[in-house]
Formats: sequence, C-alpha cells, structure tokens
Amino acid sequence: GDATGEIPTSPPFDQPLRIPKVLTGNNVTIPMRMGKVRVMASGPRTRMWTYAGSFPGPTIKRPTGRATKVTFVHQLPRKAGSMSVHNHGGHQSSRDDGQPTRYLIGKGGRRTYTYPLTDFGAPVPAYFAFYHDHKMDVTARNNWRGLQGMFLVTDPRERRLRLPTGKFDVPLHFSDRSFTRKNQLTNPFPSPGRGMHHWMNGPKAPPNDATVGSRILVNGQYAPYLRVKPGLYRLRLLNASLFSAYDFALSNGSPFVQVGTGNGLLPKSVVRQDLLLGPAQRADVIVDFRRQRGENVLLRTIPRSDDTTGTGSRSATLMQFRVRGSTDQTARIPARLTKIENIKAPRKVAKTWTFGLSETGRGSFWSINGKMFDPGRVDHKVRMNSVERWRLRNVSDMTHYVHLHEERWQTLSRNGDKPPPWEKGYEDTWRLDPGETVDVFARFTDYPGLFMVHCHMLNHEDHGMMAQFKVLPTRS
Ligand code: C2O
Ligand code: CU
Repeated sequence: GDATGEIPTSPPFDQPLRIPKVLTGNNVTIPMRMGKVRVMASGPRTRMWTYAGSFPGPTIKRPTGRATKVTFVHQLPRKAGSMSVHNHGGHQSSRDDGQPTRYLIGKGGRRTYTYPLTDFGAPVPAYFAFYHDHKMDVTARNNWRGLQGMFLVTDPRERRLRLPTGKFDVPLHFSDRSFTRKNQLTNPFPSPGRGMHHWMNGPKAPPNDATVGSRILVNGQYAPYLRVKPGLYRLRLLNASLFSAYDFALSNGSPFVQVGTGNGLLPKSVVRQDLLLGPAQRADVIVDFRRQRGENVLLRTIPRSDDTTGTGSRSATLMQFRVRGSTDQTARIPARLTKIENIKAPRKVAKTWTFGLSETGRGSFWSINGKMFDPGRVDHKVRMNSVERWRLRNVSDMTHYVHLHEERWQTLSRNGDKPPPWEKGYEDTWRLDPGETVDVFARFTDYPGLFMVHCHMLNHEDHGMMAQFKVLPTRS
C-alpha cells in the first residue's frame, strides 16, 4: 500500500499557481499522452499520464446550451490499457457518459464524446465539474496517474449578478499524491485489473483500499502561491482526490461565502467558516481579500471537528494568497442568486441504495445493496420523463461520498430533516457518514440507457461499490 508520509508543516510557497490552459471551442481534441509536469518547484519534473500534457488537463470552458464535442486520442503506452472518459456532473447520453466497460478507447484509438449542455430542451445551469478516467477496476490508478481535467459551463445570464470574473475567478483543483525522492509518483497499484482487483481482502487482496498521497497539490502543484488584489475572488474548489476529504479554511479567520455547488448556483449565498468536500465534491465560493492588503493568507485543510468516521479530513496548508496592489473591481456578493427548478418531489421512495461492506467466503468487498459491481447488473429501471425519489443509505462504519450520474439532483432530506442551506442547490455527490440517510430526487430526461451509481472514493469504486440504473424510453 501507499505510505502516508509526513506533510511538512510550513511549505515553501515557492512556485506561482498555474491556471490550466482553457479550451473554448465547440469541437476540441485532447490527446491522452505521457507528460512531464512541474509538480514540485525544484528537482525533476513528474512523469504522468495526462490529458494534453498537463495536470490537471486543459479546462474545457463552454457557454451553456452550446453542444460541445470532445475527442480523446489514446497515445499512452499500451500497458495503460483502454480508457473511458466521464464528464462528471454532466447530463449526456449513456454512450457519451464514459461507461466503465463499454465504448472504450483502445491504444491508438480515439473517441468523440458529445455534450449538448442542455436538459429537457433548456440550457443547463452553469456548472463547475471535471472530466476524468472511469475505466473499470483501474479508475483509481488512472486518476492517480493524472487523467483529470476541469470542465466549466458558463451562463451569460450570470453576469447581472456581478460575481467576480476574469482573473478574479480562479478554478482550483485539489488532489494528493505521493512521490519518490526523484519527484516521481509512487505506485500504489501494483496489480491492476483481472477481476481480483475488486477484493479487499481475500486470497489475492489488493493492498490499496485507501490511496492517500502525502502531498496535497493545487492545480497539480505542491504548495503554490497566488498573487491577488485586495478584492473579491470567486474560487471554484474541486476535490479531485482519490480518497481524501478536505475541510477548507482560511488562516485569517475569514469565511467563504458559498454561492454554488458543482452543479450550479445556490438559491441564496451561505457564509461558511469551513467547508468540507469529499472526493468529486465541488463548491463555488467568494473570498473577500479587500481588507487584507499587504498580507499573506493561507488556505488550509483542517481536521473534521465531528469526525467519528475513521476517514475525516486531512490537515495541511495548501496554498498562499499574497494580497498586493489595488483594484477598482466592481464585483459584489449577492444574497439571492437563483431559482431552483420547482419540481414536485414524490412522497414515495422509488429506490433505496444501501452502501456497505459485504462478505463472502472469499473475502470482503464494498457493495451496493449487498452486491459487488459487475457490468451486467441493472438494479433499477426508471421511465424517461418521470420524477423519482431515491434514498441513499450508508450501512457501513465509514463515510462514503456517493455519486449519481446523469441527472441534476435535488436533496430532499438528510436524516429526515431539511438539508443544510448549502445542500439546497443541485447536487451529484453526497457525503454519507456512517448510518446516514439522504433522500434525493430528479427528473429523468432526454437519454435512455445505462448510468452509474457509485462511491467516488475511487478505491471503493474499483473494489465493487458501483451499481447501474437504466432509463427506459418513453412509451410512444
Ligand atoms: Cu466522477 Cu462516475 O464519476
Ligand atoms: Cu466509499
């Protein structure tokens, strides 16, 4: 397994933060290839499997409602195997959804994915998400090696809110990795694939059920700094780690004002002193540096105060903001942001998904409704254009971060109560602490076919905690 090395307590902050290159075209090509990435400020660069040579890959940035085609070309070494790319948080057809075992991209091959960026005939709400590899059994390994990039959908109507824009709108991708002395990625995945990879402990147990890197990276860099003006900044926070949760906080005690989830704006902004994000969760926040001129503010992850789960959150200093200069920026922090579509939530639960640890004679594995993933399983069928209420339940003694593909979900309740204000927008990934139950609902629109349900702790996903539902075409 992977050793959790020491995290230096006072990082050097000796490299400026990189903002990944932005692709804005309606038809773009992204080669998957070996890249040498400047992760550490000094010493050798890190060899990674990349989207277009960088880690994270280029940010795809598109206006909502405009169909987008992205072609991925497989130029990685043969041993990498075939690939599948998923646009996480997107609403796209089953074929374009990055299936774990079908529509794969083999060595030397290419595949074009179509993302219409519409839902039920209307442009989707602007969102902040990411694209990443989703190949069965090796999703954790492929993401660890570097196959991740950000995906931003913008909405010109957002402009009237006067949220910070341009250089004041910064996407931040967080992930952790471990390195050798020569700045190369360690290999916590010595024996990928071949079915047995599912097993947590059995005759040939994979040792890597909790891949946690000793260094936490921001936009693929260790301990970077960013020069900012004494103004308002919109930070898009993405936890793209395989397993770790981060509970973000600022060193000067300033709060984050959360304006959105990863799937769009919240109805109202929410002041948050700290902000916990598990794997694949995102938050759209505003940070106010107006009174910090001349100061350095640190972004940290702090331990979860209410942690009884064994996984909690990491403790480290992530990056430094150097507040310098001046600005005549006119952005503001609006209190009211958007209206969430008023869909009537059903009273009846149509499907319960339980997340747990199951046992067989051969060992234990992570399961959904008692079963390990297999590509043939279809746990639930739903008719297109219907609205369903689903129940997500954690019956294990560890926190899971559960992801539902395809739809724009709303959270109805958490443990029988109203969800907290930051869960009143659209969601695709929920934290489920041990024993927790979350009810969600969505309308199933546009696309018949198979879609995934899984834990986004990628080791758990690879070790069986994945299921499928099928959307049936409307009756004609
Ligand atoms: Cu971000 Cu099914 O994954
Ligand atoms: Cu899990």
